[in-house]
Amino acid sequence: MRVIESIDDIKVATGSARCDGKTVGFVPTMGFLHEGHLSLMRAARAENYLVVVSLFVNPTQFGPNEDFERYPRDRNQDVELAMGAGTDLLFIPRAEDIYPPDDATRVVVRGLSEKLCGASRPGHFEGVATVVTKLFNMVKPHRAYFGLKDYQQTVVIRRMVEDLHLDVDIVTLPTVREADGLALSSRNSYLSDEERRSARCLKDSLDLAERKIHEGERQGDQIRGQIRDRIGREKLARIDYVSVSDPKTLDEVSQISGDVVISLAVYIGETRLIDNLVVKVAA
Ligand code: PAF
Repeated sequence: MRVIESIDDIKVATGSARCDGKTVGFVPTMGFLHEGHLSLMRAARAENYLVVVSLFVNPTQFGPNEDFERYPRDRNQDVELAMGAGTDLLFIPRAEDIYPPDDATRVVVRGLSEKLCGASRPGHFEGVATVVTKLFNMVKPHRAYFGLKDYQQTVVIRRMVEDLHLDVDIVTLPTVREADGLALSSRNSYLSDEERRSARCLKDSLDLAERKIHEGERQGDQIRGQIRDRIGREKLARIDYVSVSDPKTLDEVSQISGDVVISLAVYIGETRLIDNLVVKVAA
């Protein structure tokens, strides 16, 4: 595995593979890699000639009072894990190269970016869309891999790829979970033992909602209420949002008549966690 820091070097390395007719698979990450990231890398390894992984904690997707400074970082461990998962090129760009002082352009995916996490984190998806566009232009992948744990992010990126006619296939993979159901996230490292136990309430409430829908409940508000009640029993938990929405538009659903995505953002102590579940409903 080669570690590359310069934008010119990554362009040359992936460009020559492309010219030779070889496929390039790309896994963009913010590092502090866990099994969720590794599942994306393994899928990229299985489906492409060249596997590129990026590590970049993107400042523009964090709000002014968010955790950019304390976001967990462990470069040496990430190098080992990426190599073990079969990465060919590990791209670790410098912030000043991604965002030089005269940088003035942002990518905005209107509508989708303002809902759910976008309502609580204004500018977050603008930061994501901008950095993903820049990374796609540097790496020029045939396929890019994203985890469904960040469901809204995958919807925003698919819209952006379609609207900007970007020549890349977006591949999404299921959320990887701990044995008790907690979705893997780099931010789980912030949780104390007691918080970690409370954090189960996210997946428990998603499972409860899915069960109720499968039992025939069709009122979106009833489902939202059941989730709120379940999470409300955890003293360390504070709800940011609970959503039952259309999987494509992310519009809230009042009467469930087809597939829905149930999404949650919940503070456990000071740590904001997200999770979601797509529930299949015969129309
Ligand atoms: O999902 C993430 O880790 C980030 O949002 C991404 C896609 C790497 C952009 O910074």
